[in-house]
Amino acid sequence: FGPQRLSGQNVVVTAGGTQEPIDPVRYIGNRSSGKMGYAVAQAAVAMGANVIFISTRPELPVPAGLHKMIYVETAAQLQGTVSSVFEGADVVVMAAAVADFKPAQYVTHKIKKQPNTTEMQLTLDRTPDILATLGQQKTHQFLVGFAAETDDLLQHAQTKLAAKNVDLLVANDVSQHDRGFGVDQNAVTLLQPNAVPETLALADKSVIATQILERVAELLA
Ligand code: C5P
Repeated sequence: FGPQRLSGQNVVVTAGGTQEPIDPVRYIGNRSSGKMGYAVAQAAVAMGANVIFISTRPELPVPAGLHKMIYVETAAQLQGTVSSVFEGADVVVMAAAVADFKPAQYVTHKIKKQPNTTEMQLTLDRTPDILATLGQQKTHQFLVGFAAETDDLLQHAQTKLAAKNVDLLVANDVSQHDRGFGVDQNAVTLLQPNAVPETLALADKSVIATQILERVAELLA
């Protein structure tokens, strides 16, 4: 133990919400601020890890001490990038809010309002579930997933833990305004296969991030 608990570990962290383009000026996005992922990347550096950080948020300050910073926009780009570094990873923390659907077609010009129409249809396709794919492919990698829920938090989280074959699932209630999306604080429950869930009290995301990674370090040891 000690402050360098993840020293020598290659840790991949993803952060932010993906943006799925409709046309050159519009996209489908979500309310993820990226703050939790940024806190995890920073905490992993502080614990001595070699951190590859993949983010959708180029406007946020780059955490100091990263091994590598990579920006992506779409779920497809995120998947390609995560796959390319997965082999060499010891730990992957999927904090990114990946879109579940993307426009079936990208229109290369700005879509115009049609006169006298009050409706427009947009067809969406499912995106790949990156974490579930990693869960199937993993050999030695330790996988951490997040689950943002508005209802039946623990039940949904328990289902995801198993369905995605992850080693640690961080369940996040996003129905309350003082925690979760966009704000600096969070309260989460940690779930592991065959263990009693542990709820961490409301705290700064930096504190929560360190607690999550301490759990990871314990389980790796
Ligand atoms: O199923 P749900 O989206 O709630 O699962 C959340 C977890 O799965 C997060 O860790 C997220 O990064 C990951 N995820 C993913 N690919 C998707 C959807 C979610 O990796 N298409």
